[in-house]
Amino acid sequence: MSTPIDSIAISRAFLAPERPFDRWHSHYARWKLAHDPLYPGVLPLLRDDPHPLLDLGCGIGLLAHVLRGAGATQPYKGVDFDATKIARARDAATRKQLRDVAFDTADLSLGVPMHHGSVSILDMLQYLPEPLQSNVVSGAIACLAPGAQLVIRTGLEDSSARSRITDVTDRIGHRIGWMRSAPQRYPRRETLTGMLESAGLEVAWQPHLGRNLFNNWLVSARRPA
Ligand SMILES: C[S@@+](CC[C@H](N)C(=O)[O-])C[C@H]1O[C@@H](n2cnc3c(N)ncnc32)[C@H](O)[C@@H]1O
Repeated sequence: MSTPIDSIAISRAFLAPERPFDRWHSHYARWKLAHDPLYPGVLPLLRDDPHPLLDLGCGIGLLAHVLRGAGATQPYKGVDFDATKIARARDAATRKQLRDVAFDTADLSLGVPMHHGSVSILDMLQYLPEPLQSNVVSGAIACLAPGAQLVIRTGLEDSSARSRITDVTDRIGHRIGWMRSAPQRYPRRETLTGMLESAGLEVAWQPHLGRNLFNNWLVSARRPA
């Protein structure tokens, strides 16, 4: 059963009375939730997951709003190295009175914070160079409790035109100042699969293309209970 995502209600959480002219995050939230298949894609995987969730590269914390809007109650912690996004994420979560939701700044190139539960990595691996991508994925795997899962959405490096379009779009995001760092490289499917399977996880891939031209994929990797 799919749960509608209330993009208007969530986007309003990013309107701060003390900053009446700062509507950028609200507009971004509304556009992202209405047009990107990301959240409708990850919601069925995470909605009934009872394990505490660590969201790596959480941005402004939209996943927390989507989960709570769908009735999910697992403790949520989002981390990101962009202090402004974390401040906006905290403000919006407080304004919406989201329960058991926390945010912190953390630079994942220095390691993954301690955690025991499930982990999500949505659209962030490409901002790290290859060896650091592997460190983050292994760090995330080490966090997984029995029965918990690692959910990754990522573009993949391959020879498709979609792969090139994804890269160019991420570079524009950096140029216009939305992303602090430029994309480095997209992971390759065989590399990710090798890491996840050699850790004994049950791995399921699904194409996550939506009505756009990006080369996005969704992978869920579960540690057997
Ligand atoms: C495309 S955004 C995705 C945000 C969110 N996961 C989502 O899907 O809506 C990528 C995020 O990764 C964060 N990021 C990039 N490099 C990072 C690093 N080294 N440590 C922590 N966060 C990082 C960026 O600040 C940005 O918020």
